[in-house]
Amino acid sequence: MKRVRHKYTNRRRCLYSTLCFIIGCSVLIIKFSWYDAQRSICLPKNPDDEIIDRQDEWQYQNGITGQWYHWRTVYKRRNNQTEWRANWLNAAPKSYLGVIVYLATFGDLKSLQTSLTQLSRMLSNNPRPVAIFHEDDLSNNDIQQSLAQILGNSTPLTFEHIKFSNISIQPGRLHRRWAPKYFHMCRFFTLMLPNHPLLTLFSYYWRLDTHSYVFGGQPIEDPFEIMQKRKTQYAFTMANRDNEVHTIGLWTFFHQFLQDHCLKPSKNFLKTQPGWIDSYSTAIFFTNLAIANVSLFRDHPLIRAWLHRVDRSGSIYRYRWGDAPVHTLILTQLIPRNQILRLRYFGYMHRNEYVCAKGIKDDLCKAQIKTVFPDPNLIFYNHPGGCNPSFGNPLCHYYPEITL
Ligand SMILES: *[C@@H]1O[C@H](CO)[C@@H](O)[C@H](O)[C@H]1NC(C)=O
Ligand SMILES: *[C@@H]1O[C@H](CO)[C@@H](O)[C@H](O)[C@H]1NC(C)=O
Ligand SMILES: *[C@@H]1O[C@H](CO)[C@@H](O)[C@H](O)[C@H]1NC(C)=O
Repeated sequence: MKRVRHKYTNRRRCLYSTLCFIIGCSVLIIKFSWYDAQRSICLPKNPDDEIIDRQDEWQYQNGITGQWYHWRTVYKRRNNQTEWRANWLNAAPKSYLGVIVYLATFGDLKSLQTSLTQLSRMLSNNPRPVAIFHEDDLSNNDIQQSLAQILGNSTPLTFEHIKFSNISIQPGRLHRRWAPKYFHMCRFFTLMLPNHPLLTLFSYYWRLDTHSYVFGGQPIEDPFEIMQKRKTQYAFTMANRDNEVHTIGLWTFFHQFLQDHCLKPSKNFLKTQPGWIDSYSTAIFFTNLAIANVSLFRDHPLIRAWLHRVDRSGSIYRYRWGDAPVHTLILTQLIPRNQILRLRYFGYMHRNEYVCAKGIKDDLCKAQIKTVFPDPNLIFYNHPGGCNPSFGNPLCHYYPEITL
């Protein structure tokens, strides 16, 4: 009898401890999975909530009717909308695949002439329409005609008159050295340009600065066609680094954006944007030459949300955030590697920094530059490989390249 009872208590004890064990484990498991679930439940913001569709203070004028319109920063194709009509000099566009765009002032006239001369040389096999945006600086008919002549009869040229507004120019600006126009330019290329109605006529736009010069020994293959064939969304030629004083707060601001939309930094972003120990490398596409699908910065829900958040923050004016870092961060995050392309099959100079076409001999490249700038007193800086700095720019050789 005794032995049986003993056995019975043992069994009970065993049962109790097993039960305790199971309950303990369950509590732990529930606790940890709840913790995990808590961490993994992320409710993304609706990207469209970042966007306020209002009439901007900026305005543009139609070149044919003379009517002024407030700029809209959200594009919706409206059924009753009539197509934007532009006043084309030289010829009407034969193709609407791509348009080359400038933002120019009267003070830039000389470099603009050189830039257009180079375009007409290099694109003579495939003339593409050119649009020059300006704030009344270039309304003079003689100036317009002379620029049209530089491009030649087969290159369509139009002038788009726009008006910036000084409302965003506030006394809190950090960088007083820059004229208000400079900040407007940053905003123009960051957000406003793809929402101008002229752009709705085209599939791609190629942005050039008045100090951007393409050069080479002979006319080049049309970059728009290359991009269309390869289904490329974005193309650039040089990679650079931004000055840290122009990206104050941007890195944190971008990560907050990712968090709010439940995004983890993408592989392409991690390979090209962080510097040492997760700091910001400030590596940028040198956007003074960049070609983009018009729809990219206008219709992509997350890109659009990002650009609007940047704009609303006022940091373009406060800190002089440029379109280059603002675009580079979001493109490296969202656009697949094979849809961004580096065009290295022609020479390119911005102000006095240049890169030769890949595969060309140095002497030949220098001789080509002489044909653009014969003055022997001018000094130019070569960026081997088109990267600044040549080594240690993580963005530099990451994307596929088109070479000679
Ligand atoms: C087009 O339609 C919208 C909404 O239906 C209307 O508000 C707008 O005035 C119309 N525009 C023209 C030019 O008819
Ligand atoms: C904006 O400010 C600049 C420089 O202060 C001035 O030249 C320009 O006329 C102003 N523009 C408007 C629309 O007020
Ligand atoms: C541009 O992007 C839009 C939206 O992603 C896409 O529908 C369109 O096909 C692209 N255009 C070109 C020319 O690749």
